[in-house]
Amino acid sequence: MITIRPEQIQDIAAIREVNDLAFKGENESKLVEAIRQSEFFVPELSLVALHDNQVIGHILFSIISIETEAGPVPTLALAPMSVRPQYQNQGIGSSLVKEGLQKCRQLGYKHTAVLGHPEFYSKFGFTPSVTKGIAAPFPVPDEVFMVIELQENSLDSIKGKVKYPSAFGAVS
Ligand SMILES: CC(C)(COP(=O)(O)OP(=O)(O)OC[C@H]1O[C@@H](n2cnc3c(N)ncnc32)[C@H](O)[C@@H]1OP(=O)(O)O)[C@@H](O)C(=O)NCCC(=O)NCCS
Repeated sequence: MITIRPEQIQDIAAIREVNDLAFKGENESKLVEAIRQSEFFVPELSLVALHDNQVIGHILFSIISIETEAGPVPTLALAPMSVRPQYQNQGIGSSLVKEGLQKCRQLGYKHTAVLGHPEFYSKFGFTPSVTKGIAAPFPVPDEVFMVIELQENSLDSIKGKVKYPSAFGAVS
């Protein structure tokens, strides 16, 4: 039985641990902590998956922007996401993505971007951002930088280039 809920203060150490184990290093947990300290953090969009009261997965959505001719348009980035190694490939990551996207939609966000595995994220409706006229923030293969519309056609009139806040650059 898995429960998904927003992070609480007592989860912070376990979130760090899950990220360090899943990514085999500290870059992503430092990214989570840098975002948490920033104005772009949305507490309701840092979600943990719990099993027996233990944090076994984490997903974070935070505010980034799309730089357009008309100025910056706020959107969300899904990053990072992690599942404790011994719990991977059991559907927990998929549940975090689905629940997370639902939460983003409920909060009124219209779109989300992600940099990641195309086979995994396309299952939830993510599509390469270039197909929507949105460029990745830095050079990456087209298929790994993806976007999803949380409201139908919400990206139709938005063309530009994604920009990550400095929290992302400080740790990568
Ligand atoms: C990616 C991750 C969060 C997925 O969580 P999970 O609980 O294992 O996800 P699910 O069980 O719902 O789904 C597993 C799917 O992810 C796919 N997947 C996992 N890692 C992958 C990778 N490196 N490349 C491509 N696909 C991958 C699996 O092939 C599987 O696909 P399937 O359902 O078609 O068989 C987890 O594997 C993880 O923490 N990985 C290490 C950290 C990481 O890479 N995070 C994502 C950054 S974009």
